[in-house]
Amino acid sequence: MLQLPDLHSSDNTQLILSVAACLGVAGVIARIYLAKSGALPLPPSPSTWRLRGHFLPLENPFLTIAGWVDEHGPLVTIRAGPEKIVIIGRYKAAVDIMEKQGASVADRPRMIAAGEILFGGLSIGLTHAGDRLRRMRRALHSHLNPKAAEAYQPLQMSLAKKMVLDLLDDPNNFHNHASTFSAAMVLEITYGKNSAANTEVKEICDFLETRSIAIRPGAYLVDSIPWLRYLPWYGQELKREFERGDRIYTGLMNHVKQQLQSKVDIGPSFARYVLENEHVHGLTEPEMAFLAGTFFGAGSDTTAAAMNTVLMAAACFPEEQSKVQAELNGVIGRRQAPTFVDQASLPQLDAFISEALRWRPLSPNGFPHRATKDMIWGNHCIPAGTTIFGNHWAISRDPDVYPEPDAFKPQRWFNDQGRLRNDINFFVYGFGRRQASSFGSICPGQYLANKSLFITSALILWAFQLNMDTTQPLDDMGFMSGVMPSERPCTITFKLRVPETELRRMMQR
Ligand code: HEM
Repeated sequence: MLQLPDLHSSDNTQLILSVAACLGVAGVIARIYLAKSGALPLPPSPSTWRLRGHFLPLENPFLTIAGWVDEHGPLVTIRAGPEKIVIIGRYKAAVDIMEKQGASVADRPRMIAAGEILFGGLSIGLTHAGDRLRRMRRALHSHLNPKAAEAYQPLQMSLAKKMVLDLLDDPNNFHNHASTFSAAMVLEITYGKNSAANTEVKEICDFLETRSIAIRPGAYLVDSIPWLRYLPWYGQELKREFERGDRIYTGLMNHVKQQLQSKVDIGPSFARYVLENEHVHGLTEPEMAFLAGTFFGAGSDTTAAAMNTVLMAAACFPEEQSKVQAELNGVIGRRQAPTFVDQASLPQLDAFISEALRWRPLSPNGFPHRATKDMIWGNHCIPAGTTIFGNHWAISRDPDVYPEPDAFKPQRWFNDQGRLRNDINFFVYGFGRRQASSFGSICPGQYLANKSLFITSALILWAFQLNMDTTQPLDDMGFMSGVMPSERPCTITFKLRVPETELRRMMQR
């Protein structure tokens, strides 16, 4: 057996340790010095001859990036015009840089087209770390923290039951039913019951589509040549879109204000809360209007795509689906439907959802962060000011953390004792924090989203056996684009596991 040396036993040992310590300190000093003097290099970069920088295909760019990570290592540097971007493609590097040093990457890079022109600096997701972000996140946290998220369970339960009924009546449109669930939930939480937003959904979606185009690196020249924004004729379409967003969001907020003034019973909502607590959060009217609008933009399509990913995984992997159903049979039985109370007793379902969201991550390219100080990792330095992306797809394929990464294996989320593991996770909701405070966890909607995913998956897998219709096309990456696809990426059949009349009766209660 290997013996550890007795640290106090000999003068020689002490001498060796002292020399080693000195060398260690010297090594650290040398690395800091090298980093400061710019001598520690940036992470490796795939070669490119293009002046405009590395070429990334419009469709599934994350696959190209994952190839570079396989070839060059956990960190790669790419160029978009003159700007250097560092991409993290392995789990350990993501934890070391984005999680352990989260405060140094909490900022966003400057996004002139999307952040400044299209959103007028009012989008929480694109805004710099600082006072506005702190006020906005504090207000959001009041409605989305883990405790607050519990209050939405009755709403989520009734919408999930409605989704089961929608699947019974119209199984072909399963992906639209998920969108109806998430839009209805998010709109009610934001603006209350029967809000004007229900009629504005289409217009909000059109506005958000412009955002998803503007946010792509290199989509607008102004992000490389900032002075262009001062030319009166530049970016007219973005300016018009800002006016449209402003009109929609301000109109929705004013509607809530009028309802409150006329003492209409509109129930609780985020919009009502910020209006009534203006003095607490110190938000201006445009900030309130855009913050409420963010609920829909950030929470609706993401939740629907996640729900559909779980359903698609169930149909693609029937053996894994039947393990979840065996658990549902054992814990719940067929005479009653699962509820939120059962969540802790359904670890197979929990592992299945985790694996589905690792198998087909929902924001595969990740979101841009900005380093606010020089960051050293291994023998590389990421200089302050660099844009950093954690590439969710490449990280999800890290073979050291997820052996056989392309296989769908919910069992990987269990430890040897058969309990859910807490030593690894997957960054479904992004990395690090946006603000050094208790309301800083990166995606403020994650508790709400997790509950939506649990209850819809539990009810649907309990009620139906899902099968893939193999005569129809299957695009199993079809829900990964960040917006809900207009074409259905797959066709699933829903076979009843519970007698229909029983099911209808339980779902109408
Ligand atoms: C399954 C559903 C969801 C997924 C996969 C998801 C994912 C993400 C990701 C990846 C980020 C960026 C993380 C980063 O910068 O590294 C993010 C940010 C954000 N999410 Fe979510 N999200 C979901 C649901 C929601 C919901 C339901 C809401 C609100 C109702 C929400 C609100 C936000 C906001 C406001 C931000 C921006 C935060 C900031 O930059 O300060 N999300 N989300």
